Amino acid sequence: MSHGPVPAVPACSVERLRADFDRLAEFHDPERPGWTRGAFSPFYAASRDWMASRMSAAGLTVRRDAVDNLIGTLPGARTDAPALVTGSHTDTVEGGGRFDGIIGVLGALEAVRTLADAGIALEHELRVVDFFNEEPNQFGLSCVGSRALVGEVTRKHLDLDDGAGETLRDALARVGGSPDDLPEARWSGDDVAAFLELHIEQGPVLEHEGLPVAVVSAIAGIDRYRVEFTGRPDHAGATPMDYRYDASCAAAETVLAVERLAADEGTGVATTGRIEIEPGAPNVVPGRARLWVEFRSGEREWLDDCGRGLHEAARAAAERRGVQADVHSLSASDPVAADTRIRELLERGNTRLGLPHRTMFSGAGHDAAHMARLAPMGMLFVPSHGGRSHCPEEWTDLEQVATGARALAQGLVEVDRARRRDAAPGEDGTVL
Ligand code: HGY
Ligand code: MN
Ligand code: MN
Repeated sequence: MSHGPVPAVPACSVERLRADFDRLAEFHDPERPGWTRGAFSPFYAASRDWMASRMSAAGLTVRRDAVDNLIGTLPGARTDAPALVTGSHTDTVEGGGRFDGIIGVLGALEAVRTLADAGIALEHELRVVDFFNEEPNQFGLSCVGSRALVGEVTRKHLDLDDGAGETLRDALARVGGSPDDLPEARWSGDDVAAFLELHIEQGPVLEHEGLPVAVVSAIAGIDRYRVEFTGRPDHAGATPMDYRYDASCAAAETVLAVERLAADEGTGVATTGRIEIEPGAPNVVPGRARLWVEFRSGEREWLDDCGRGLHEAARAAAERRGVQADVHSLSASDPVAADTRIRELLERGNTRLGLPHRTMFSGAGHDAAHMARLAPMGMLFVPSHGGRSHCPEEWTDLEQVATGARALAQGLVEVDRARRRDAAPGEDGTVL
């Protein structure tokens, strides 16, 4: 088994990438802002058939699992070794852009094509995954596909409802998944050697520092809640202020308390991204209000403190108005560190390609945070124009995308070769 020098991957094709990004962007809801492609929408379903065809065209054997993850496989020279896995997601937030997640799937396909064109073969099987439904869905759960691969979609998750009579279980079946077979979707840790994800930064740092790529140190933990306030609908004109049970005022006070929790505590961020008020008529004192709240941090203790703070703030705001408050935890994911050895190999790959780079914490959540439960995980970021994401203005130049795809390809080669040397310790006895 030769242990020749690790090859430098040649440049990826900007034009092939541009064609793929432009085509995928066409699959969006024309009635919604940006490039909206929700995971339970017909636009997303149509895009996955196209994505499967692109995976096949890149030489991958494609299958879809019980939770509709798209998995493209390229055999490696070794049949006795676990697989290298890369991928991301192609669903978007409401009003989302054309790069969040998408770069980790289309960039991975371009990495596969570039390695094939250069005759650089991997020892390990390579899997490219388009994870189903990474963005928080109408049921309040994110990363459905990657959670399923690590066995973390629970019965409680499947019973989450959208407030309009559909559960996550129903919706999965509606889009062709088989929720009762989720245990079959689970991968074993023995099956995966490492997981790498290429993603846009979704913030301003790389552009500000003029750097083409970052190696991620850790991914924030995210706790999400739904808070329900139940007051009493009354006439907005005839009901004196001290006779009211106003759910929306209790909710509004709690929204500001969420902002204060993050501002006061300092190491994380907090957002109330969705508010619903019922009945929603200007001449009716709101009888019900619902908030969707999330806290993010690198520290589990901070997240727990904020969760307690939310319960207390909602209770107090409700009590002052004779309103009922119910706080429901929707999901809680711990902060996850990237694997030290994988980080070193990604840095080595960037250096081999002459790419200046830095380390960066990810405030955004990713499928990689769940895949880290299965195998050593690493992530690469490329710049976001103006630091914008989760909006129609989200943009990364295709030349920057191509650089990211090349860094991903190089990272896969570095991990592949490091494990090969590990299998028969050679010159540098590198172990992964
Ligand atoms: O919310 C996130 O951080 C990711 O974009 N789903
Ligand atoms: Mn996102
Ligand atoms: Mn994403």
